[in-house]
Amino acid sequence: MPKWFDYKTSADLNAAALKLGVADIVQTDTDYSKLLEPILIGGRTVGNRLAIHPMEGCDGELDGRPGKLTFRRWKRFGNGGCKLIWGEAVAVLDEARANARQLWIHDGSLADMARLLEDLRAEHRAEWGADACSDLLVGCQLTHSGRYSYRRPLIAMHDPSLDPVTLVPHPAGDGKIPMPPDYPVLTDDDLKRAEDAYIAAAKRVVKLGFDFIDLKQCHRYLLSELLAAHERPGPYGGSFENRTRLIRNIIARIRSEVSKDILIGSRINITDFVPYEKGADGRGMPRPYSTPYKWSFGVDPMHPETADLTEPKQLVALLKSLGVSVLNISFANPYNNMHFGRPFEKPPLDGYETPEHPLLGVARHFKLAGEMQQAFPEMPMIGTGYSWLQHLFIDCAAANVNQGRIALAGVGRGAFAYPDFVKDLKSTGKIRDSQACIAVSSCTALMRAKGNEYGQFPSGCVPKDKFYGPIYREAINAYKAGNKPTPLPSPVVERADAGTPARGEGKA
Ligand SMILES: Cc1cc2nc3c(=O)[nH]c(=O)nc-3n(C[C@H](O)[C@H](O)[C@H](O)COP(=O)(O)O)c2cc1C
Ligand code: SF4
Repeated sequence: MPKWFDYKTSADLNAAALKLGVADIVQTDTDYSKLLEPILIGGRTVGNRLAIHPMEGCDGELDGRPGKLTFRRWKRFGNGGCKLIWGEAVAVLDEARANARQLWIHDGSLADMARLLEDLRAEHRAEWGADACSDLLVGCQLTHSGRYSYRRPLIAMHDPSLDPVTLVPHPAGDGKIPMPPDYPVLTDDDLKRAEDAYIAAAKRVVKLGFDFIDLKQCHRYLLSELLAAHERPGPYGGSFENRTRLIRNIIARIRSEVSKDILIGSRINITDFVPYEKGADGRGMPRPYSTPYKWSFGVDPMHPETADLTEPKQLVALLKSLGVSVLNISFANPYNNMHFGRPFEKPPLDGYETPEHPLLGVARHFKLAGEMQQAFPEMPMIGTGYSWLQHLFIDCAAANVNQGRIALAGVGRGAFAYPDFVKDLKSTGKIRDSQACIAVSSCTALMRAKGNEYGQFPSGCVPKDKFYGPIYREAINAYKAGNKPTPLPSPVVERADAGTPARGEGKA
């Protein structure tokens, strides 16, 4: 396996960027002062420009409540010192969860979610002072997993590239098969019900006291797939207006039925690119496709491996007009073209080797996010794709923020590995290279490991957080032994009356 990241200093990184032809995009700066300056988001002061991206640990309880490890992670994030913590995916319905241990917001999980948020804030106060939460922003990422819902895919459209690799339950009830062409697509009424679920969830988020609601429109989950539904007939497909109908309705109803004041953010895919698969040499390559390509958002239909930001810019203008205050810029699909979204050193066991130098992937993040930020300088945007840069991410974050190419820099895997880097930055003026994420994808492997009694292993940083070593070994042994996930837990549905979750009632 090639060792891609081999840089000790910014000078090494700059030399590599020059060699790869991306020196105008990947730059470094050791003046970190602006990173530590406050920024205004939706009228709120946020204490610094360093953010933690949503990072789920697949460690909730089967009924959607946070589990012991969820509390541990949120406290570590609260303690760390980033002033914008973009909370992880929280499903709006049980059937919309991406895995059996994803958080799910309903009346039965509210008390524990309230404690989760309070524990994070308490840790933040304990470390940073009694008043520290006044400039801390914590968001709740509401999600409907759509095609990647764990009980069965709930698709907004058929996609000739993704369908053959989207597994559905075997009609005979044993195992899974590739999605057949007649697999049902969510109806317009199903989407209206999803809208209602978002509104019910948003009410709960406000009740919990989160600082903002994120309406997740990335990584090809439901709202993201809808943006690409060029071929779907009816009111939710075809034109840009139709493809954004659901998100527009949700935001309008949050404002009219939930709260006039709650801050709204959105993590958006500014481009989906095309799905990839493992080639004969082990490296990723695009799955066969035809042009004009009609199944992705933010791509040139004749060259869908290339981003076209025309519609993503339209989307940002629309969200801005609807009162969205902050955007988290992401792209691609973690299940099918992971190297775009999270440039990596080493793939997870079932993945492909990166088809390009990961620094080119990082440069793509910086370039596309920079273009979006510069088109909307008044809209605070958070950039993604920094973690592969290990300890040097902070120098790149400083360069991007100092040059106005992004308002805030966020880390995902980097926060699993090293949640308290801000503490070191503030106290020593630098961050520790020994604690940085090394992008070897063990956390992704854990996310994909299903062979235990929960049907899902918890995820965390294996190399840098000793806690996860034994969990990883267990997961790998289960994988090698070919352990299938245990049968899915029986459906847990919310009672229409009191909202008390009841196991085994109703449909999945
Ligand atoms: C284990 C794991 C969990 C993640 N959970 C979420 C999530 O809940 N919501 C989300 O939008 N992205 C999620 N992501 C994607 C990250 O937020 C981030 O976009 C990605 O890791 C690239 O950023 P990085 O290079 O800083 O890691 C997850 C990624 C990983 C590896
Ligand atoms: S397991 Fe740790 S080091 Fe590896 S990619 Fe995940 S966060 Fe980074």
